[in-house]
Amino acid sequence: NTMQPLKVTVVGTGYVGLGTAIMLAYLGHQVTGLDVDQSKVDMLAGGELPIYEPGLDQLLRDSKDRLRWTTDYTTAIPDADVIFICVGTPPNADGSPNLRFVAEAARSIAQNLNGKVQVVVNKSTVPVGTGDWVARIIEDNAREYSSGRYLVVSNPEFLREGTALYDSLYPDRIVLGSDSSLGIERMRLLYAPLLDQSFEAPAYVPRPSNYERPELVATALSSAEMIKYAANAFLALKISFANEIAGLCERVGADISEVTQGIGHDKRIGHRFLNAGAGWGGSCFGKDTSALISTGSEYGYSMPILEAAIAVNQRQRSLIINKLQQHLHRLKGKRVAVLGMAFKPNTDDLRDAPAHDTIQRLTALGATVVAHDPIAMPRARREWQHLSYTEAESVRAAVRGADAVIIATEWDEYRELDWNALLVDMRGRLIIDTRNIITTQPDRCTLEQIGKRS
Ligand code: UGA
Repeated sequence: NTMQPLKVTVVGTGYVGLGTAIMLAYLGHQVTGLDVDQSKVDMLAGGELPIYEPGLDQLLRDSKDRLRWTTDYTTAIPDADVIFICVGTPPNADGSPNLRFVAEAARSIAQNLNGKVQVVVNKSTVPVGTGDWVARIIEDNAREYSSGRYLVVSNPEFLREGTALYDSLYPDRIVLGSDSSLGIERMRLLYAPLLDQSFEAPAYVPRPSNYERPELVATALSSAEMIKYAANAFLALKISFANEIAGLCERVGADISEVTQGIGHDKRIGHRFLNAGAGWGGSCFGKDTSALISTGSEYGYSMPILEAAIAVNQRQRSLIINKLQQHLHRLKGKRVAVLGMAFKPNTDDLRDAPAHDTIQRLTALGATVVAHDPIAMPRARREWQHLSYTEAESVRAAVRGADAVIIATEWDEYRELDWNALLVDMRGRLIIDTRNIITTQPDRCTLEQIGKRS
């Protein structure tokens, strides 16, 4: 048995912090989740999650004996063998990440270290060089007896929202960056259960059929920080590449799905993250690509590939409205149903969702918008108050009387819709499927997809 339970504290209970805390408790460690937001801590202590993530509530129930939640650094830090920093790094106006919360966490951790060897792990996505900066903050704020006794490790997170459990229990790789081998060794103990080929997650997170245990990648501190950004930037540009080719496909009469299928069989390219669509969104790709460019500019170094990936993504969002205008001409007075608000399926996260831009542009052009989302509507009620749209309780209600419908998120329930039945209730017969989920053309309708001739 390779399992050696450690005491772990996770600072920050956002997506990454929560996932990390609950997963490590599931692996058998004693975990304290710390957040400065009392209401979040109260919710968690009551067994409720402040976010929606499939299966996470079940994993929380299954691990609750090894989890506690607090706002108090003085009890959470001294005992911990490993302390994770998982706080947010929201973008500044210029695209660079705001590290205020990281600095605050580092200071509070420093003041409560116990003088034994403790590992401080950065899991927040932070610019290259932040690990050293965190180490300096800790050194400046630590009590004398703990000076130089802690180790800083960068352990970037690669999980996707919506599949967080699967990604964190069956990761492709675990990246550990540290300039101390002791730090890496402690982290190896922490992740030992995952590194075991016989590891089995709970039944509700099925083990992939071709499961291979994750690769442990030990690097220098700043390399680990760079790996995180480079990975997201590469995925973002893969998608932008597919979107750029999709535009040409539409013009020459090729079909982007067939094209990406064909190129993906080349193992050097691969099939994943080549789906053309509404363009990438979410809290990470936009922030991380901009952050890399901004790091580059600090060094007087340009990053033309990333600039282009961002430009293509912006163009992709305008495309949706362009397609609508092509068929409806003036949008003033038109009624448009938007199906899907979350930036992708299986999450209620609305950050940088293509649907947001779409709704904003539609209303600016005078259209009436009715929106639907299977999960994200309650959150949108709070976070999208600046937008004007009405909510529909069902897809049927959303499309009733609509001149056009836009599929903005590829929720499974939208894949199975009976369009012939829905079109009967519509005023127009135009469907803009920005996620290419409709596989058979409904009768007598205009179907616009991405990268396919309509
Ligand atoms: C992304 C990365 O995939 C994770 O590995 C990383 O840990 C995370 O960012 C992060 O930095 O925290 P996430 O933002 O949750 O995860 O979402 P993705 O599933 O990567 O989707 C990002 C966007 O790309 C979505 O808007 C999605 O619709 C779009 N996308 C994805 C496409 O347009 N085409 C595709 O083929 C795949």
